[in-house]
Amino acid sequence: MNILILGSGGREYTLAWKIAQSVDCDNLFVAPGNAGTGQIAKNVDINVNDFDAIASLVIDENIELVVVGPEDPLVNGIRNYFQQHEQLKNISFIGPDKTGAQLEGSKDFSKAFMEKHNVPTAKSKTFTVETLPEGLAYLDTCSMPIVLKADGLAAGKGVLICQSLQEAKDSLTTMLADKQFGAASEKVLIEEYLDGIELSVFVLTDGENYVLLPEAKDYKRIGENDTGLNTGGMGAVSPVSFADDAFLQKVKSKVINTTVAGLKKEGIDYKGFIFIGLMNVDGEPYVIEYNVRMGDPETQVVFPRIKNDIVDLFTAAAEGNLKNYKLEIADEYATTVVLVAGGYPGSYAKGNEITGLADTNDALVIHAGTKQDDYKVLTNGGRVIAVTGMANTLEEALKKSYTAVNQIKWQDMYFRKDIGKDILALRID
Ligand code: AMP
Ligand code: GLY
Repeated sequence: MNILILGSGGREYTLAWKIAQSVDCDNLFVAPGNAGTGQIAKNVDINVNDFDAIASLVIDENIELVVVGPEDPLVNGIRNYFQQHEQLKNISFIGPDKTGAQLEGSKDFSKAFMEKHNVPTAKSKTFTVETLPEGLAYLDTCSMPIVLKADGLAAGKGVLICQSLQEAKDSLTTMLADKQFGAASEKVLIEEYLDGIELSVFVLTDGENYVLLPEAKDYKRIGENDTGLNTGGMGAVSPVSFADDAFLQKVKSKVINTTVAGLKKEGIDYKGFIFIGLMNVDGEPYVIEYNVRMGDPETQVVFPRIKNDIVDLFTAAAEGNLKNYKLEIADEYATTVVLVAGGYPGSYAKGNEITGLADTNDALVIHAGTKQDDYKVLTNGGRVIAVTGMANTLEEALKKSYTAVNQIKWQDMYFRKDIGKDILALRID
């Protein structure tokens, strides 16, 4: 079978690496891809939102399975485009339609969905510029800290945790009246602050049934000990020791079953990933957010632990055959450390030569923001490489990641040295 992955990051490299191992994979294409995907698949220089060009590629190359990496094309309706196209409508497709993608594209939509279908989540109210006075008055009744969330996609920047009432009032005004995040903050949610430990679970659903993929914890801040600006993610680990069986059972019964049943009740034909950001509050799961795709860098620790043939799994999901599907998960720990360009998540240089990539035998070197230039590999983004180690203990997996990390070099490379340390400190893994 010929297969297309849309995207260009570490998530897409990991999916390509796993798909390329399948006996069912004949030709693998990645659009637009990176230097690494170019070594294990054929890169095609097409933007993920150029649906016409994607359609031509799929038809010309007899592609039978499409896996969408990022949320953007899903929110923009790529699945609907395929469904409405005579030659594309029967192609297996991993990713929800435009309505399903609203679970990530609109926090107001996802909050209303959770409330309607009894999915546990923080209490929240939505305001617009017209109802700003009511929003400010509502803040007077809230205890601090309080969370303000822009409704739409805001490149990971639309969530503010305010410590004081004044800060909350100023921020609400800036978001609504000054359109701080453009159209994304035309609506703002004022949400109760949840105090707990965060983790993510990942589901692949065929709209009716689902498989629960391994859980993961990511490290979002740029600085060690979770300080500094938010990033796309600086590292991840799986499994997560504080997500024990009892907790995961609650996640299944209270969160996933209600979510999948809710989608069905709403008439949303959802075939794809649901990435659920959770807060564990005294052993009870609360949903912080839904994403309609896999996480990055969570994919870099989740997929290496899945033993099944991934094309078989994706085909089953796309064809509605996940009932009784048995997922085989490696007992091993997987850890990933993300290497970024100095300055990220602010401005950073591109085009620096990366060395040491070939010397990393004991770990999986995952390309993200990289570009091939003849025989050289150059930096081409903020998050450049992720290095995944796997072993029987968390310590060993981290050691494998960091040993390989220390062989890779470019000017201004930066990474966090404390990935997984908080979990080791809990001493319950
Ligand atoms: P989101 O973009 O919804 O993932 O939010 C970004 C981050 O803000 C999350 O990863 C949490 O760390 C934090 N956050 C979001 N909502 C809440 C909440 N209700 N209580 C506490 N922290 C939150
Ligand atoms: N690592 C967080 C995300 O992919 O959204």
